[in-house]
Amino acid sequence: MEQKVFINSGKELDELYASAFVVTDENLDRIYGGMLPENKFVMRAGEENKNLDTVQKIAEAMLKCGVRRGDRITAFGGGVVGDVAGFAASVYMRGISWSFVPTSLIAMADSGIGGKTGVNVGLIKNAVGSFCLPDTFIETKYLHTLPTREYRSGMGEIVKTSLLDADLFEFMHGKFKAVEAIKKCVKIKSDIVNKDFTDKNGARKALNIGHTVGHPIEMITGLSHGMSVLLGLRFELLMLRDYLEHNYFYELQSYLSKYIGDTRVTFEPEAVAVIASADKKNEDGISIMYPYSIGDIREVVLSKDEFIRLLKEAM
Ligand SMILES: NC(=O)c1ccc[n+]([C@@H]2O[C@H](COP(=O)([O-])OP(=O)(O)OC[C@H]3O[C@@H](n4cnc5c(N)ncnc54)[C@H](O)[C@@H]3O)[C@@H](O)[C@H]2O)c1
Repeated sequence: MEQKVFINSGKELDELYASAFVVTDENLDRIYGGMLPENKFVMRAGEENKNLDTVQKIAEAMLKCGVRRGDRITAFGGGVVGDVAGFAASVYMRGISWSFVPTSLIAMADSGIGGKTGVNVGLIKNAVGSFCLPDTFIETKYLHTLPTREYRSGMGEIVKTSLLDADLFEFMHGKFKAVEAIKKCVKIKSDIVNKDFTDKNGARKALNIGHTVGHPIEMITGLSHGMSVLLGLRFELLMLRDYLEHNYFYELQSYLSKYIGDTRVTFEPEAVAVIASADKKNEDGISIMYPYSIGDIREVVLSKDEFIRLLKEAM
């Protein structure tokens, strides 16, 4: 099923008002609460609230507002709001329709596409989730209020996506225009998702570059999602440098450094390995997807010991 995605169509307000219920977070409610309908649930902001407790609270609020099976709900917010509200929609009364009005750069360029929803359980990201496509209404005007840290985080997912596509990679080396980058990311991700909606035949795995090490970094350090993915990518490339052509390896390192800046992290490699091996994508060893060249994404599966050894060498 093709996802409906609208970019700067101006339809997002109609969508918000046509919905029976809106989910947002406290930061967005502070800025945009005045234009949101009354039937809403305002969750606490941040990754630590992407959990089953919040889903329970959303379900209780929807029941209280009389949301029925034929109704639609709308997520208004970043990737966390989308992941949680989408999951709630997919299980509420065995599944109702949902729309997403993404407000962060990550959500516009990445999480608003593809219908993966989910919540974390302990330190394991998206341990519980579903596939449930929203209609997505991207309005780039919301980026004006996005804090710098979150904008940089969004750039992380865009940089990641650029390693999947030569055209976007080239575009990133010219004058950056957010709307253009978002349009390109939407197209690249949609094309991949259309080949492998439920993540079964391998095509969608390409989107995981940077995430094997990035997700544990995010959960251990509390760094933003996109910055964790960039750091994850840097470590993964260092771990797998023997697979990569020499000049290309250095080109990618300097490209990533432009976006990572002086951000540094400390962690125990063993702790990263424990979280990585618990990931749902890892059945027989720890899988790392890596860009063998731009657009040619390959997989290597490592034993836990090998993973720890290579990560220690990369640090
Ligand atoms: N489902 C997917 O396919 C997918 C893909 C990529 C990332 N993700 C998930 O997305 C999450 C990260 O997304 P995120 O960075 O958007 O998280 P987020 O929703 O926590 O947003 C980041 C912060 O920015 C604030 N914010 C968002 N939009 C704003 C705006 N317009 N003005 C002011 N403040 C604003 C939020 O309140 C929050 O504090 C992670 O949980 C990640 O796992 C999901």
